[in-house]
Formats: sequence, structure tokens, C-alpha cells
Amino acid sequence: MSLSFVGRVVLVTGAGGGLGREYALAFAARGASVVVNDLGADTKGGGKSSAAADKVVEEIRAKGGKAVANYDSVEDGEKLIQSALDAFGRIDVVVNNAGILRDRSFARTSDLDWDLIHRVHLRGSFLVTRAAWNHMKNQKFGRIIMTASAAGIYGNFGQANYSAAKLGMLGLANTLAIEGHKYNILCNTIAPVAGSRMTETIMPPDLVASLKPEYVAPLVLWLCHEQCQETGSLFEVGAGWIGKLRWERTQGQIVRKKNQPMTPEAVRDQWDRVCDFTNATKPANVQESLESVVSVLSQVESEGEVGMNPTAAATSAASGGGINPAKAVGQKLPTTSFTFTQTQCILYALGVGMSTKDPDHLRFLYEGHPDFSSLPTFGVIPSQSSMMGGGLSSVPGLNIDFTQVLHGEQYLELYKPLPTSGTLTSESTVADVLDKGSGAVILLDVNTYSGNELVCYNQFSVFVVGAGGFGGKRSSEKAKAPLPPPKRAPDAVVIDSTTRDQAALYRLSGDWNPLHIDPSFAAMGGFKTPILHGLCSFGFAGRHVLKQFADNDPSRFKAIKVRFAKPVIPGQSLQTEMWKEGNRIHMQCKVKETGAVVLAGAYVDLHGPTNASPENPIQGGDLQSELVFAEIGRRIKDLGSELVKKVNAVFGWEITKDGKKAAEWTIDLKNGSGSLHKGPYSGKVDVTFTVSDEDFMEVVMGKLVPQKAFFAGKLKVKGNIMLSQKLEVILKDYAKL
Ligand code: NAI
Repeated sequence: MSLSFVGRVVLVTGAGGGLGREYALAFAARGASVVVNDLGADTKGGGKSSAAADKVVEEIRAKGGKAVANYDSVEDGEKLIQSALDAFGRIDVVVNNAGILRDRSFARTSDLDWDLIHRVHLRGSFLVTRAAWNHMKNQKFGRIIMTASAAGIYGNFGQANYSAAKLGMLGLANTLAIEGHKYNILCNTIAPVAGSRMTETIMPPDLVASLKPEYVAPLVLWLCHEQCQETGSLFEVGAGWIGKLRWERTQGQIVRKKNQPMTPEAVRDQWDRVCDFTNATKPANVQESLESVVSVLSQVESEGEVGMNPTAAATSAASGGGINPAKAVGQKLPTTSFTFTQTQCILYALGVGMSTKDPDHLRFLYEGHPDFSSLPTFGVIPSQSSMMGGGLSSVPGLNIDFTQVLHGEQYLELYKPLPTSGTLTSESTVADVLDKGSGAVILLDVNTYSGNELVCYNQFSVFVVGAGGFGGKRSSEKAKAPLPPPKRAPDAVVIDSTTRDQAALYRLSGDWNPLHIDPSFAAMGGFKTPILHGLCSFGFAGRHVLKQFADNDPSRFKAIKVRFAKPVIPGQSLQTEMWKEGNRIHMQCKVKETGAVVLAGAYVDLHGPTNASPENPIQGGDLQSELVFAEIGRRIKDLGSELVKKVNAVFGWEITKDGKKAAEWTIDLKNGSGSLHKGPYSGKVDVTFTVSDEDFMEVVMGKLVPQKAFFAGKLKVKGNIMLSQKLEVILKDYAKL
């Protein structure tokens, strides 16, 4: 079906010639009533004549079309719209097309050159559009075109004034698209190329003749038709070709480190990364743009420091520089096997601080106990030999200085409870190699089998100081990432002391690095005294969670992740802070004496229902938000029509509990006299908020401002983010509840 404009009233500014004339003729040919505006100025804005507009009106009328002329400048925006209302009673479409040029090299641009250009292009478009806005809003239909230019998008010598004004129009259009959306006012921008009197001074005559304005007009007509739903977009158009433009953004680079000032040197050193368009993203709105910027705050918080726990491999000899991820990734290390008896299990349990002082510990210390078991974190022991054995140094593409290796992070997942004796084999693969600038991170995945059965999986994250800058990627989907703890007081805290001989005991489980026992060796590494094994603190923290939240039942232990932040000296006390979030127990381990965080971004995942410690009962039961929605439902019944007038939007809510979706609500304050729905909603939702039951209550009680909740990542918004401003209007009243 052909696109008709019968019944529509269209204003085209600057329609006395060039592109504007073409638009006016094309709209009229398809039934529109057209206001042909033109001041009749010369290209520099001088002079005035009604002839230009009159001529186009005559042309239209001669073909049986409807048109009136308007000779006002776009600077008298109201008058142009009044012409449309006087002649045709309404205004549906505004094409901001009028324009002049005052090209000068920048140094020679006078105030007048600057102001005139801005007054006609940017301010004129603002005034005309503003005059039309409320009419469009009331009739819930409007189509607006802004005319930008390649000079604005890319810059052009001698057109500083014009470029600035033209791109200003794009910014104006972007915001009008957002504000107009709910009234069906759509706004797009074009950057045309066509032969006209404006271009005849810069283009050869045959090009002026062949780049016809009629190759631009059809795009303008389509964008202004009621069938077209495009809005907030930018198009280049000419010669019969149309292309759409959007923003592209590099992955970028974080150049700031936790607790350190951000410096221009860091910016210089990471410049190539900042500007590298590999895997570029395409943020489409302020929300998408902000989300990624705001997420940097928590990334810096959790990634700011480098793991500080030297591994046994640090004793190996240096082997020169050079990392080649293409060669290294996917390489398998020699298979290792580990044969053990109950002795190793008990030795390990003692190594991570278990004691007969605590009767609960007997099941891990006494082979005659009816529930004798291995501690779940013992799962790192069979696999560590792949790393300790210097296997990494045999991997092609990993020519690194093994004296510079630190154990950065550890992840362990169990597929069944560990046996208390037998032979386990481990297969190790270099899962990924990352370039962190200051160093390289090697992710080593180790699968450990009993016969053919997979028992557990470890991911060692090894940091090699000084080995970065080989041009590799910064992050990997294969990495098991540390997670920051919730921002509230911990649900449980356990304090436990290590003994002076803790490292001497722990090393008997297989990590023989002298760093943990030999003072002179430790001094070479820059430590005043030998330090505890990171995996020993890991064992302490793991068993604290096991006792506190899983009744010391190893079959409930699914996985553990830690990042080694600082070393511990044997004899210091460990303070494990724990936060229960469903079956995930976030944790952080500090040295009690110094307050230094030694295990960061850590968590344990448990199977099945977890028990709260008696002094910290975990709240279960119904969602608190149910009550609020019930009350909202009642209010809508009473005051629905009034709220619809005030708010005019449909809000979706996804309420989560323990990280999972727990309820779905829709507050329709747009249709009829408003309504509340529970469960899936069939109509169009303008904006959807996802928030936890607890945070929802905070917002409702007025303790948490929605905007702050958004920036803190507690409130996710999908759809028209501007509407979140209305949240306060809706929710404020309920603080009284
Ligand atoms: P044109 O000079 O043929 O048309 C501009 C019209 O605007 C003229 O008829 C002029 O009298 C009118 N006008 C100037 N000041 C006015 C005012 N204050 N109030 C009302 N009318 C006024 O030029 P053309 O090429 O048709 O340009 C149309 C639009 O497209 C302009 O905004 C121009 O900047 C833009 N453009 C054109 C390109 C091209 O290749 N032709 C390239 C990029 C942008």
C-alpha cells in the first residue's frame, strides 16, 4: 500500500528551494496540507522575499495539492505553527530544514558569523518545534525531522559555526525522541547530500545536477509517516542511498587502582587499550552508557589489588620473557596422580587448624569416627601437584619468569564428597591467558578423577608480575570471578587463631615451598618472616562456612572461590565474615590483629537448604512487597483516574528474593482508570524495574531514593528510564504504611 498523508498537516521550513521545496512537493503529492515556509533570504541569510515560498505553493496548487505560504523567519517559531493552525487547524509534521551558511576559517569567525548560524539552524529548530510540541502531545501524534550535516558529524574546514549548530540539532533530536516517545512524537535527524544553491559553490556543476533533492525526500516522507516507528536515529542520505549511524565505543580500559590516585601516566601507558576498537560495544542510550561506567566502581573495588601469595613454583628458575596466548591456551600439562590414605586427610585437617578441642572436628581428625570424612577444601591437594611440579614451564608459549609468579585466586568445585583414601588423577589445561598490563594471568583448569569419575574441578589463577603487555585480552568468560560481599553487616563472624607452627604443619600436605618455613628464603622474597600458605587460610575460611551454615556436612559443600589479597603470618588470628544470600555464602577473611583483608571477593556455594546459625536466624516466608502492592491496588481503585492523568505510564516490577525472580507485578497507570496485575502482563510496559524484595521496601519506606538505588546497582531499569522520575510520585505516599 502506498504511503498516504491525507489529513496530515506538514510544515517544511526553508521550503522555497533546494531540499525543502522537494519535500513540500512530495508531501503535497501524497495528500498532505503543506505550509511552505521561506524567508526568501540569500544563502548567507541576507535579504527577504516572499517569491520563493509563493512559487512552490503555486506549483503545488497547480497539481491540485493543498498548500499555504509563510514568509516568517524560523526565529519566529510560533508564527509558523500559527499559519498551519489558521489554514488547516492542526500540525502533524515539522521538517526543520531552513538553513544558511557563513563559512569562515575558525580564526576569522566573527560573533555575527557564529550567532547567525546558531540562530537559524539550532535556535530556529528549537523555536519552531517547541511551538508545535503541545499540539502534537495533545493529539498523541507528531513527527519531527532535524537536518544535520556531515560537516557536524565529521567536521569540515571553514565550518566551525555550522558544524557546531548542526550537531547541536542532533543532541536536541536525541532528547526529543526520549521525551516525545510516550506521546507518539517521533524525532529523527538526517544529514543529506544534495545539489542545491547551498552546495553549488563547493561541488562541480554536473555533481550538483545529478545529486538530486528527490533522492533525499523519500526518506523524510517515510520517517514522517504514521507507520514508521523509528525515533532518535541519525541517517546519512544522498544519491538514492540511505545509511543509519550509531555510536561505537571501545571496550576501554580501567586506568585506576583501588586506594591509589589516578594519574595521567597511567592514562598514557594504557592509551592503546583505551583506543582499541576490537570488540567495540554500541551503547544505545544513557542507561547502557552509564551502567558500564558505574560498574567500574565495583570492578576497581574487587580487582584493584594483585594476589600476594607466592606459589611453590616461585622456586623455579627464570626462563626468559614472552607469552603467546595462541600457543599456550588449550595446552594440556602432563597428567599427575595422587595416592593417599586417611593420614593425608587428617594431616590436612590439622594443617588448616582443626583441633580435638572442638568435638565437631572429630569427624575430620579421627578415622574411627562413624562419619569420618575429608574436608571439602582438601580437593585442592590432589590437583596442586600439576602446578607445583613446574608443569607450567613446559607449556609452549609461556616463557615466563617463574620467580615472579603469585597465586592470585582459587576456585574449587566438588561433584561428590571426596574419598578418604585412594588414587586420584588430575588433568590440567591452560584455560586462558590474560593480559592485565602490569602482569599476565594464567588460568589453569584442573579436573580430578577417581577412575573415570570426575570428583572435583579446580581453577588456579596465577599472576605473573611484569609479564603483561603482550597484547592479549583483559578478561575471560572462562574465569571464575570473585564476587564482592553484600554491603551490610555480616550475618556471622568466626575468629580463629593460627599457631606459630601452622605453616610448618600445612606444608606436610604437599606445598614444600621454603618461603613458608625458611626465614632466609622468606627474606629473599621481601618478607620479614615466613608466611602462611594462601591455601591454608583458604582451608580455614572454608571450614568456618561449613560449620556455620552446613552443619559440618561435607556433602553440602559445592564450591569455593577466593582471591588472595595479602599474606598472613603464622600465629595471627583469622576473622572470617560471612553473608548468607540463599545458598551462596559470601565471605571475607581478615587478619584480626591488623584488619588487613587476606581473602577477598570470596564465597562458598552450598547444596540444599542451609541452616542459619542460632544467633542469626535467617528470615524466610512471604515477600514483604506483597502488602505494598495490595495497598497500591486499593489506591488505584480509589484514585486511578487521577493517577493516570498524572503519571500516564505502565510500570513493570520484577521482585527478586535471594537473587531469583520471586514475583512480577504491573502497575498500569495509562489505560482506562488504571489497574494492578500480578504475574505476566499482556500489554506494553513502558519501563520495568528489577529490585530485591528488601530494597523495594527500602525505597517504599523512603529510606532509599530510587535514583541512588539505580546507581548502586540495586535497582535495574529496562525501558524508558526517564519514567523512573515518576516513581517517587507513586511510591512516596506509601512510606506511611
Ligand atoms: P537551500 O539554500 O537551497 O535551502 C535553504 C532554504 O532555507 C532557503 O530557501 C532559504 O531561503 C531558507 N532560509 C534561510 N534562512 C531562513 C530562515 N531564517 N527562516 C526561513 N527560511 C530560511 O539549501 P539546501 O541545500 O536545500 O539545504 C537544506 C538544509 O539541508 C539546510 O539546513 C542545509 O544546511 C542542509 N544540508 C544540505 C546539504 C546539501 O548537500 N544540500 C548538506 C548538508 C546539510
